[in-house]
Amino acid sequence: MRIIAYCFSGTGNTKRVLEALAKELHRLGHEVDIFPLREDCTPPPPNGYRTILVCYPVHAFNTPTPMLRFLKGLPRAYQYTSVYLLRTSGEPLNFNRAAGITPKRILKGKGYHVKGEFRYVMPYNIIFRHSDGMAVRMLRAAERRLPADARLIAAGKGTLDRVGPVSRLVSFVLRIEHVAMPFIGRRFRVSEACIGCGLCASSCPQGNIRMEASGPKFGGNCVSCMSCAFRCPKDAIRISLLDGWRVNGEYSFEGDPASDAEICRYCHKSYVRYFHSIEDNAQETEQT
Ligand SMILES: Cc1cc2nc3c(=O)[nH]c(=O)nc-3n(C[C@H](O)[C@H](O)[C@H](O)COP(=O)(O)O)c2cc1C
Repeated sequence: MRIIAYCFSGTGNTKRVLEALAKELHRLGHEVDIFPLREDCTPPPPNGYRTILVCYPVHAFNTPTPMLRFLKGLPRAYQYTSVYLLRTSGEPLNFNRAAGITPKRILKGKGYHVKGEFRYVMPYNIIFRHSDGMAVRMLRAAERRLPADARLIAAGKGTLDRVGPVSRLVSFVLRIEHVAMPFIGRRFRVSEACIGCGLCASSCPQGNIRMEASGPKFGGNCVSCMSCAFRCPKDAIRISLLDGWRVNGEYSFEGDPASDAEICRYCHKSYVRYFHSIEDNAQETEQT
């Protein structure tokens, strides 16, 4: 089976998990054609594909604007087409499930069959920085679950998240972030540390940063993916109102995973529960 995957990824976490899933699907004899969502390239419609993967990070308990715009622009399904939603988020909180509501509604309205949702916790790219040990443990947890998830996709099976009324309400209220971002993003600035390398501009999936003689200039199309501030080699980008939450520098996914005692104190119990549920399940499967 040939599968098409559409991926919006600001700082690479979602792309990383999708690529690992594609490898698992390849092992099962399926090929995944991956298309990133970027302003400078239009992905092809899913004509001829019977399975679609829709991959994105959770932003304020919602779906990033570029993914919603893309889904709204999809043609109607002209044959039975299964869709799976793959999401990454910085926390294993149930509120994040609300980030599947709008994509499911749009896709259903166009005649697609949303069969399953997969959620993976990956390191935060805003608010605070996880340790590299946490990043390793998160990636390993995802990798342990991916073979089972790939088998579900290959078999056309899956389950959809239930979203409670409180999560719906919180997610609805936080949509304000998505409305505000174009305005907040315009006010991003660089400090004197900027070396004018242009990495922020070339990596911005929205094409929102223009390099001028005086340095980068930020336009009104920001969706707060954090690619620019995260990747800046000099940590020179100041993200306006959100600057206290700035996270800079790629995570290293090499090395030893964090032990239970090293799991961050913020949401400690939720992370422990998340890791253990995956690790225990994988062990049981390996033993049978
Ligand atoms: C603006 C913004 C809002 C975010 N909101 C949430 C959130 O509501 N819940 C959560 O668990 N993680 C949240 N995150 C963290 C990302 O979902 C997480 O780091 C994700 O793996 C990033 O994926 P990417 O590298 O593919 O962009 C947020 C990140 C950004 C930049």
